[in-house]
Formats: sequence, structure tokens, C-alpha cells
Amino acid sequence: MTSDRSWWKDAVGYQIWPASFYDSNNDGMGDLPGVISKLDHLKDLGVDLIWLSPVYDSPQADMGYDVRDYESIWDKFGTLKDMDMLIVEAKSRGMKLIMDLVVNHTSDEHAWFQDSKKSRTNPKSDWYIWRDPKTDAQGERRPPNNWRAAFGGSVWTYVAERDQYYLHLCLEKQPDLNWTNRETRAAIYSTAVDFWLRRGVDGFRMDSVVAFWKDTRFPDSEITKPDQEFQPMEWKFIMNGAPVHDWLKELRARIKEDHGPDVVLIGELPGTGTDEIVRYIDPSAKELNMVLDFDHFMAGNDWHADLHERTRPALPLLKDAMIKQQDFMQSGWTSAFTENHDNPRSVDRFGPGDGEYRDAASKMLAMFLCTLSGTIFLYQGQEIGMTNIDASWTRADLRDAAGLDYLDEVERKFPHHVAKQEAALEGLHRFGRDNGRTPVQWSAAPYAGFSGVKPWIRVIDNYKAINVAHQENDPDGALFFWRRMIKMRRHYRNQLIRGRFQVHDKENPKTFTYVKTGVDPAEILLVVLNFGDENADVFVPGDVNESSMRLLLSTSSEHRLDTEHGRRLHPWEGRLYSCQRKGTDV
Ligand code: GLC
Ligand code: CA
Repeated sequence: MTSDRSWWKDAVGYQIWPASFYDSNNDGMGDLPGVISKLDHLKDLGVDLIWLSPVYDSPQADMGYDVRDYESIWDKFGTLKDMDMLIVEAKSRGMKLIMDLVVNHTSDEHAWFQDSKKSRTNPKSDWYIWRDPKTDAQGERRPPNNWRAAFGGSVWTYVAERDQYYLHLCLEKQPDLNWTNRETRAAIYSTAVDFWLRRGVDGFRMDSVVAFWKDTRFPDSEITKPDQEFQPMEWKFIMNGAPVHDWLKELRARIKEDHGPDVVLIGELPGTGTDEIVRYIDPSAKELNMVLDFDHFMAGNDWHADLHERTRPALPLLKDAMIKQQDFMQSGWTSAFTENHDNPRSVDRFGPGDGEYRDAASKMLAMFLCTLSGTIFLYQGQEIGMTNIDASWTRADLRDAAGLDYLDEVERKFPHHVAKQEAALEGLHRFGRDNGRTPVQWSAAPYAGFSGVKPWIRVIDNYKAINVAHQENDPDGALFFWRRMIKMRRHYRNQLIRGRFQVHDKENPKTFTYVKTGVDPAEILLVVLNFGDENADVFVPGDVNESSMRLLLSTSSEHRLDTEHGRRLHPWEGRLYSCQRKGTDV
């Protein structure tokens, strides 16, 4: 399962958010034929693994992370035939394809839930998590405990037919499945997993795998926000319980039996420590091949803080997070990514945002990702340096249910407090999930060439300056740079894909310096990244033989071929050097 030749190890992944990738039939919504029509763009970029966010039939309460039917496609995205075609077309270009496996919960419109809610005795009554009401001192019906759902409100919703509450860690429309029920697990396998593997997908990104288990005693969370009715869920009650490992082993064994050892499973595991992660990825455990860890996004932030209180990570904290993630290589394998559909754009999160240095930073961040070990994932639009939404976005422009719920909550709590409401909106501008969900900017045509009609979500105003068509003709642009950098990653795969990662000058708040070492400990690559608006000096680690340093690539066109230029980095410049370790010169 984890032989050195496992196909996914050297893969360059790319996440597609289908609603905003490309609209082929001008209804304002991206679709599967749209994805197919742009496969050559991905091929040219050097991508050979597509991660497709959910395309299943869904009422779209959470953009498809609320599945109504695992075995069909949402009609606006296309048909099963389109999906089969996508698999064939991807394969014919040498690309693998994985889907999002969303099985912590379903939609409340899924037939299983529709049955489950009917009575306490129907055959599916125990497929979801039901609990009796509590009664307060006034005799009023109350939810079974005080947990606050991930997107606000209680995690419990009452259903009169059963006179019980069901659990939903996310939206009300996303009831959590009962993984402790063997029958439920078998049904999940046959409909959500086996069905798609038979159609030719190569594996899954497993949504919310961290939370399949919950403490079924459902204790109250500690009261940490006394001004709120519901309290942040304590992670020990909902995360990484021992049974998850049994369930994943069971799943892996069934997959292996039916489909062989090559299926890749990638687990979403926020807020999980190294020891715990190692239990999932240890090859002998036969569970997951790699995980998606989020410490680099959260560095220095409290997971339960309101969005507008979030800050960009100080560089030394980002380095710590990368050390954590890169070191998973020693226990199995790792992944690396700097954007996804739940997060701001990397040029805003880690870089200077839109402005003078955006272009420089987008290339520097390309060098960053492409020099990290493990399987990397780009997120759509990242290859051209797409940005966050801007301050002109009002509530009416926003689409993400989590963001809108957040605004509602602030409005309810502070009905007359304009500053609080503005701060909440501003928090969404910086960290809301719509940032990564705007239409891909293909050209300077109306609606950024994404669609011929007004899309389901607003296009970012900067599309005339930032778009694929323009960058196709710009050898100094981000797109060219990504292509080049991905080639370089493959060329130096021993160091860049599989190598050991060592950070130097760690406390430096402006530059990020690391060495990548491959099988031959003498042949090393040095990466120096400037995370600031000012010039900075290249830091040369003590064990690097300075006279052996050869500049392989700079993100700055001025420096690109200039080995004589010295050791001064431009703002937001990145450089890659090949060099030898001291004492090993030949
Ligand atoms: C994951 C997804 C997110 C979704 C949530 C509930 O965190 O990445 O987009 O809202 O799970 O499925
Ligand atoms: Ca469409």
C-alpha cells in the first residue's frame, strides 16, 4: 500500500471546486463538461491528480457537502455520464481523479434520514444520532447538551415525529451518521465508496474524518463563552476517538479486497497532534495514506475565536507548523497545500494581498509549495495568483452558509451595534469561505470568461488584470512560473518531493529558509523565501558550503539567470539553490 512506487507519492494534485471552475452551458454555474473542457489547462500546468469537491446530488445547503444521493450527480453539475466521461478524459491525459467522500453526515434530504426521522422503530432509526430531550427547571424542552455547532446554533435539532433531537456538528441540514452502527457503515461503503471505485475513481479526500466518532454520553462542554447560549464543542468529545481507527481499518480492508492496494485515502484532520496523526498514517496501521493538517492556517489563532479576531500567522509560527507537517514524512507520508475551498487565498493569508507585490508573492508562494515534501495540492485559481474578495463585497454578495450564519448571529447579539456588524463583515472579507469560491478568472471577457451570464457568485473585480488568458502570454507571470516550478519539483524529486526538511534561522520573522536533503546527504537544495515588503539577505546555513551554491531559480525575472547578483532578495522573492554540505565537497 505504501511501496515507494505508490502512484500518489509523486503526484501534483489540484483541487477543483466545480461550482466555480468553468460554466459550459451558460447557466451561471460551473459543471462537469466545463471541467472536461479545461483538462488541458491542468495538463499543461503539470497536474496529474485531480481532487474534485462534491458533485453529488444535493440541496446545496453547504455547497454539496450535504449529500442527498451518493449515486447521482447534482443536475446543475451534469449527469453520471458526464462524470464517467470526466474519468475517461482525465485518464487519457495521464491524470488520476479522487472525489470528496462526505460521510460524517448526509443531507437531511437523503432517503436514509427521511426514513430515520419517521419513528423510533423504523429499520433506519439508528442510522443517525438521536437523543431524548432534556427538560429545564421551567419544564421547557431543551437540547440534550450545550454544544454549539461548527457554523453556529445548537448541534441538536428537534423532530416531533420521534420526540427526539438529532445531532449535526455542522448545519441543521447535515445530520451526522451513526458510525457505530455496522449496517450504516456497510451502506456507506457500498453506496459512497464502492460505487465510485467501480466507476474508476482512484481514491478519496475524506471529509471530516476527524469527527466520525463522538463521545456518545454527550457531556456538556465547559462554559468558555458565558455570553453565549451554546458552547464550543470540546474536542475531546468529538475528535479522534479510538473507534475511528477500527472503522478506517475496516474500510481499508474492504477497499483492498475489492479494488486492490492502490486506492488513495486522504483524511481531513484539523486540530490533531502529531502522535495522533501518526496513528492514521503509519503504513502498518493500514488506514489513511496521508492527512490534511491545518496548523499552518491556524498558527497563532484560537480555533474558537470569531473570524474578525483572526490574524495572519507570524512567520516563526508558520515555520513550526510546516515542521510538524513535513515531519510526517518520517512516519508515512504527508500532504502540502496553502489554499482550499474553506480558506482565504494564499496571497492574502501569507502574502501582501492585491497590490504592488501580489504577483511577486504568488510566485514566491509557488516556490514554497513546490519545494515541500509529500503530495502537494494546488487549489483552482492559485496558479494565476487569484486574490480574496475585496472590501466592496456586501452581505448580498456573500454565498457561504457558514459566513451568513455568522453575520446573522452577530446581528442578533448586537442588533444596534454597527461597528460589531462591520467587523464581522470585515472578518469574512479576510477569512470567510467565499474567498476561495469565486469564479476562476479565465480571461478579461465579461464574468472573467467563466460564464456567458451572471454567475451564482460575484466575480472578483480584478479579473481584467489577473486571468489565465493574459498569463498564457506572460513568461514572467505566475502561470509560467508554476509550470516551471512543477517541472523542477519532478526533476529534483529526491530532495523536493521525498526529501528531509530542515528549517534554519527559525526565529527570523521576515525570511523562511530551509534545506531539503535527498538520499545523498551531500546533495542538498536550499530554499530562501522573503515574506516581506523589504529587501532581505539570503541566509546561508552554517553547514552549507557557500562556494558550491548555484542559483537554480529565482521568482524574480531580474534575478532568474543572474548567478552574479549576490545575496539580496527583492521583496517577496524566493530562490532555490543547489549546494553541497560542508566537508562533503568533491
Ligand atoms: C469540511 C469541508 C467543509 C464542509 C464541512 C462539512 O470541513 O471542507 O467545506 O463545510 O466539512 O462537511
Ligand atoms: Ca453550467
